[in-house]
Formats: sequence, C-alpha cells, structure tokens
Amino acid sequence: MAFTVKNNIQWVGKIDWELRKFHGDEYSTHRGSSYNSYLIREEKTALIDTVWGPYAKEYVENLKKTVDLKKIDYVIVCHGENDHSGALPELMRHIPDTPVYCTKNGVKTLKGLYHRDWNFQTVKTGDTLDLGNNRVLTFVEAPMLHWPDSMFAYLSADEVLFSNDAFGQHYASEFMFNDKADQTELFQECIKYYANILTPFSPLVSKKIKEVLGFNLPLDMICTSHGIIWRNNPAQIVEKYLEWADNYQEDQITILYDTMWDSTRVMAEQIAAGIREADAGVCVKLFNLAKTDKNDAITEIFKSKAILVGSSTINNGILVSVAALLEEIHGLKFKNKAAGAFGSYGWSGEAVKIILDRLEKSKFRIPDKGLRMTWSPDEKKMAACRDYGRSFANRL
Ligand code: FEO
Repeated sequence: MAFTVKNNIQWVGKIDWELRKFHGDEYSTHRGSSYNSYLIREEKTALIDTVWGPYAKEYVENLKKTVDLKKIDYVIVCHGENDHSGALPELMRHIPDTPVYCTKNGVKTLKGLYHRDWNFQTVKTGDTLDLGNNRVLTFVEAPMLHWPDSMFAYLSADEVLFSNDAFGQHYASEFMFNDKADQTELFQECIKYYANILTPFSPLVSKKIKEVLGFNLPLDMICTSHGIIWRNNPAQIVEKYLEWADNYQEDQITILYDTMWDSTRVMAEQIAAGIREADAGVCVKLFNLAKTDKNDAITEIFKSKAILVGSSTINNGILVSVAALLEEIHGLKFKNKAAGAFGSYGWSGEAVKIILDRLEKSKFRIPDKGLRMTWSPDEKKMAACRDYGRSFANRL
C-alpha cells in the first residue's frame, strides 16, 4: 500500500491493525498504530524513516513496487527507535552504500541497535539537503522529544514538517488524514500519547515548539511517524501540545485504588460522594487499578488537578497494582497536581504512609495526612470518608 500525501510525497509505511501493546508491554494500543514512512521523489529521491522490524520484509517488498530501491538517493532517519528503524537492516541490504542522514546521537542509536557501519551522514539543526525542483529539506534536532537522537525535517515548497513521534498517535485508521478521521478517537489517542510518553519532557516540548514557530515557516501539513497526517489546520495539534505542555489540568479529581475485600472500594466511593458534596461541578472519576489499563489511568491523571490513591495494607505494604502505578507516576514527573491517600487495614496499616511518601517524592502537593481505617467501614466510618472527601476538595 502506498498513497500520495502531497505532490511528490508518498506514504509508504505500514498500518498495524493488530498491535495491542507497544514498547514491549508498556503501552496499550487499543486502536492499533501505524509506522509512517515517506518517500519524496524530486530530482533526488529521499526516504524518511522505515517501519518496525516484524514488517521489514513486507515493507521493503512493497517499497520495491513503488520505487526502484537503487533510485533512493538519501535515507533519512529522524529517530532510531526500533519502530521506525526496524526495517533499515533489510532495506540497507539492498542499498548498502546509500547515505543515511541522522543526528550524531542517531548514529549511536543505530550502531547500538544494529551493529552496522552504514554510510552515516551526521546532520544538525539548520543543515539542509537539496532535493531539486526548489525543494530543500531542513533538519531540526529535537533532543529528548523523546529520545536523544530525535529530529524533525521540514520540506520547503510543499511546506511539510516531518515530525516523527511528535504530534503522533497510536491509531490505525483507513483514513490517514486528520480531516477524515473520527475526531473523538483521534484526540483521545493524541492525549494518551502525550500523557504517557511526552509528559516528562514538557518543558522541552514548549521550548522546541517555540523555537520552530520562531522560524516563521509556512506549514501546510505535519507528517507524523504514527497515526494520521495533519493536513487540515495542522496548527491545531501544535496548539494542543503547547496547552498540554503547560502543566495541563482539567477540573477533575481522579480516585485510583485497589482493594482486597471491598473496604477500600467502599472508602473510595464514599470519598467521591464527599467531593461531590463540596464541589458539584468537579468531575470525579474512580478506577480500580487491578481492573484498569494503566495507560488509560495515566491519561486520566494527566487530566486531573488532584488524585487520591487508595490501597489495602498487605504484608506491611501496598497492593502491586497501586505500587506499579506509583512507579509510573514517579517517572512521568507530573507538575502542579495535588494528591491524597486512603486505605483500609486490619492491624498494621502502613499503606497510606507508603503511598503519600511516594507521591511526595513524585512532587505532588499533599494537603493532608490521608485517611486510614480498620476493617470494613460502618455507617460512622462512611460518614468520615465523606468528611474526608469534602475537606480534600475544599483544600484544593
Ligand atoms: Fe515511535 Fe520513539 O518511536
């Protein structure tokens, strides 16, 4: 499959309808994904990025139907992560001497992954590659967006930005353009992608976007490396990124918990009722972490102004689904969010303290000491949970 993106730019990637886990088992992809690779055929022919390794042979065979591989003058690697570079060894087997353009860190990444010494041509911000017909590719390094080697490429005349992972989504769609895609699905996948992958790099996201906007380049399309291509008002996703990178939050409080014999669940629901009593307008959402996809949970945390985390105490510690989420939260470096903790216990009751310690180390604002209760909540204890919910909401 190949299709025209614009003029002499063709999409030659792979739509992965069956993908359900990405980064090993780290990231859920409920709607599949795509690995977007682009062929630009002017006086010179350039190939931008490839696809994930399992599709390498299929990709190269398809590519051969579109272009004589020997006619590819330049291979551009905007980012060496396996999902974009996995087909390089198979491709380069056919065209071993073709120059591979990437950043200095890109060379390290590709050599580290594939142990080959291809004809690397190192580029940095401002370097250009003339494709003829008035079309010049300009490279912009984008370190840590989201790997050290990441870079963008901008094609003049067509006014297309090849942004690699940035502005992408794990979203398989037969409609490969944003104006044709289901908007709810599209933006759900965009925010999930940002929340789970880009949150720790938000300060760099703002800085890089402002730098690129400062070039005052006309922008007709953004060709990402995953999901759909932004051809209708591409600025909309740039504006969303600026918003998300700026300590984004909605009027939402998310309660995340795990429970052994239901007591901590009852606490969660009573705390939610108390929050609603204090603030009828706030959106309160509850998730049992043992039954919830962790990337979906992270997306909800990203949207929240505050979270409450609950766990039963087990073996002087916390339940593993809660521990796993706290580990993830720590790495994502959320900013400007408050947090509380709660949980039921029988005799030792360490869970609340463990959760609060972890959230404090993750730089959440902790307005109180949390709420711990023995055994199963009776009416009096349920009322105390509602009190706690009210007071937590009022302190935000
Ligand atoms: Fe889509 Fe960072 O690879």
